[in-house]
Amino acid sequence: MAKLWSGRFQKDTDRLMDDFHSSISFDSRLYKYDITGSIAHAKMLARVGIISDREAGAIIDGLSGILEDIEAGRVEFSVAAEDIHMNMEQLLIDRIGDVGKKLHTARSRNDQVALDVRMYLRDEIDETGQLLAKLTGVLLDVAEQHLDTVMPGYTHLQRAQPITLAHHLLAYCQMFERDRQRLADCRRRVNVLPLGAGALAGTTFPLDREYVARELGFDAVTENSLDAVSDRDFAVEFAAAASLIMVHLSRFCEEIILWSSAEFGFIELDDAYSTGSSMMPQKKNPDVAELIRGKSGRVFGDLTALLTMLKGLPLAYNKDMQEDKEALFDAVDTVKKCLLIFQPLVATMRVRKENMARAARGGFTNATDLADYLVQQGVPFREAHAIVGRAVAYCLEHNKALDELSLEVLRDFSPVINEDVYEAIGVSRCVAARNVIGGPAPEAVQKAIRAAREKLDG
Ligand code: ARG
Repeated sequence: MAKLWSGRFQKDTDRLMDDFHSSISFDSRLYKYDITGSIAHAKMLARVGIISDREAGAIIDGLSGILEDIEAGRVEFSVAAEDIHMNMEQLLIDRIGDVGKKLHTARSRNDQVALDVRMYLRDEIDETGQLLAKLTGVLLDVAEQHLDTVMPGYTHLQRAQPITLAHHLLAYCQMFERDRQRLADCRRRVNVLPLGAGALAGTTFPLDREYVARELGFDAVTENSLDAVSDRDFAVEFAAAASLIMVHLSRFCEEIILWSSAEFGFIELDDAYSTGSSMMPQKKNPDVAELIRGKSGRVFGDLTALLTMLKGLPLAYNKDMQEDKEALFDAVDTVKKCLLIFQPLVATMRVRKENMARAARGGFTNATDLADYLVQQGVPFREAHAIVGRAVAYCLEHNKALDELSLEVLRDFSPVINEDVYEAIGVSRCVAARNVIGGPAPEAVQKAIRAAREKLDG
């Protein structure tokens, strides 16, 4: 079949060429947006008198019929027809005849594809945001059960100070809340209508762009036709936001992998989200967490691909930009899949509180608290730090914890120490005492959970 643009050509394109430049294998997923956008365009063309109401009606009926056929699996797209936009136009002409040839009046695929991608991304941003909110809800539920589950907090992956599992989980809730805000911010720049920019220089027809924007739920229309068809910043922004989501998931997954090792023994993952080994009968592997950690690389790759695709492009549209789709789709698919499976992974993990508590009691996580105790007795902090350091060295030599030292031994390090020291450096007490805003004390965490829930509902 002759190409819709074949007028100035003397011969057909080579098959190899068709395969090479066709995008239908991946942009077919935009069909719904292409149709919705075309219906709004047709309505507007009739509204401003460029086509008749009857013609618009025929086009809209035709497009609605095509939509039904696609969803019923009755449509096979053609590689020779290049992309979703020309496939759609060809299908329409086949279906309703010459009237279908009027749809593309005052429109280019350049503004059309920008429209489709923006509508697609707007929906995907909403879904991704909902997945983030759901995950945060799950984390808050788990946190609520572990307000008193003491575990070591780490720096340099060395035990540092005691915290609780709830506090640790709340740290990730903060990250995911920022991710939601980033998506919402990105959505504002996605939700601008590019249609009407034409190929690059607008159109001579008296379009009502604002009407189309209202019809399609856009908050504004683009203000420069060159920019409208050459801008993919919004795709980059999404890929960047998706990359940060993946960074957060990946860090969390790394911890889950560590925690489920025998060396930590902090959690056990549910069988439903673990795998065995084909050779080693004893193995139970945290594949989900490893795959999420691994897939973060894909999304960073998508971001890099988009940036690199854009960086040397002169204005306005260039075919390079067709390469935006696979990267963007992959980022969307990957981040959604990871967010979805991560929810049950954390909801079903078994927490081994005893092991967490034991780890918190070992490793001198209460050393700072002993120093703080000395400060309260009037010792300058730097001196207190040195005293406790010597006590730790003594403990290491004698294989003891700080709170296992007798009062006499402790007093050898500093005579200001009294019986009440044991209360002050018990790990649960060390946690409870950190009752600042944003701290790990159960009371503070309880408040943080409430605030996080309010943000989710709001
Ligand atoms: N399939 C193309 C894309 O994804 C649509 C725009 C094509 N425009 C053009 N002038 N060849 O970018």
